[in-house]
Amino acid sequence: MNNKVKQELLGYQSISVQENLTYFKPNKASTTVTFAEEIRKSLQEPKKSISPKFFYDENGSKIFDEICSLPEYYPFNSETEILQTLEKKLLPYLSNEFHLVELGSGSSVKTRLLIDILFKSQKHLQYFPIDISEILDQSAKNLCADYQNLTVTGVVDTFENGLDFIEHYDDKPNLITFLGSSFGNFNQNEGMKFLQKINNLMKSNDLFLIGLDLKKDQNILHSAYNDSQKTTAKFNLNVLKRINDELGADFNLENFEHHAIYDEEKGRIEMYLRSLSEQSITIQKSALSVTFSKDELIHTENSHKFSIPQIDSFLKESNFEKLEIWFDSKNYYSLVLAKKI
Ligand code: AVI
Repeated sequence: MNNKVKQELLGYQSISVQENLTYFKPNKASTTVTFAEEIRKSLQEPKKSISPKFFYDENGSKIFDEICSLPEYYPFNSETEILQTLEKKLLPYLSNEFHLVELGSGSSVKTRLLIDILFKSQKHLQYFPIDISEILDQSAKNLCADYQNLTVTGVVDTFENGLDFIEHYDDKPNLITFLGSSFGNFNQNEGMKFLQKINNLMKSNDLFLIGLDLKKDQNILHSAYNDSQKTTAKFNLNVLKRINDELGADFNLENFEHHAIYDEEKGRIEMYLRSLSEQSITIQKSALSVTFSKDELIHTENSHKFSIPQIDSFLKESNFEKLEIWFDSKNYYSLVLAKKI
């Protein structure tokens, strides 16, 4: 059975865009049902919440790119700085046949830096971007146009499902990257489960490269999530627009505001949408009518910041051996290279 047939059996629809570019997407109807159900559940809890994975519709992904160009949002620049100086440090760990698997296909700036490094040791490269957002369409086309010997196989799905998909692919070693400190958006249990999942499907010669944001001065953290251009506010509020558009809801975005604080004890930024008045909202596809009191918060995201001992401990606990840890010049951010023990 070839790979394409195997992946179709896993419940994916394959779309061949051009010879070197294929996407696999789960059935659209089932993803809408999951979204509607999750929203129905999380908005009925005593503490209302919306999962941060729903930020990334096409518009949300574009706003996130805008966040990455803000002067206050240092994680993007810090991580890019580390990647720009990575070639000599990473090459000794590579061979001539690695696949690049990117969880959260992210910015093509960073992907290109990694692709350039991999092409120093191999002639052909298979790149698997895994992203919940269909925005990867355009960035993948641009990559294929710029790199002749690149084959892109995109998986438009959650990281967890995308990883299941890759596990069934082939025997070549993977460089699995999880950049942007997206790991910080998990809670502790989810994060551990996710790392263990990656670890379990890794082969002994696979590598894992993870970007992790570090604890630092609270003013720097506060500004990064409360930027002066209010782009982060737009990003946060966009999830309500998405629920309106996709689930037939009637949120008035003017009646909510962005709220982000750093909780020092928990070591994380917490992001919320605050209801500015008492109001009632109907979400048709979730069969839900929900009321908000004035100042009631909807939790939308946690963004954890880590210390080095914390990083060492969760890597060890999830069965990873830390090979290297690299920092940017301000020591705001770290990039860890690890393998399975
Ligand atoms: C994607 N993730 C790592 C970002 C973060 O910093 O937690 C999402 C974000 N939220 C607000 N600004 C950026």
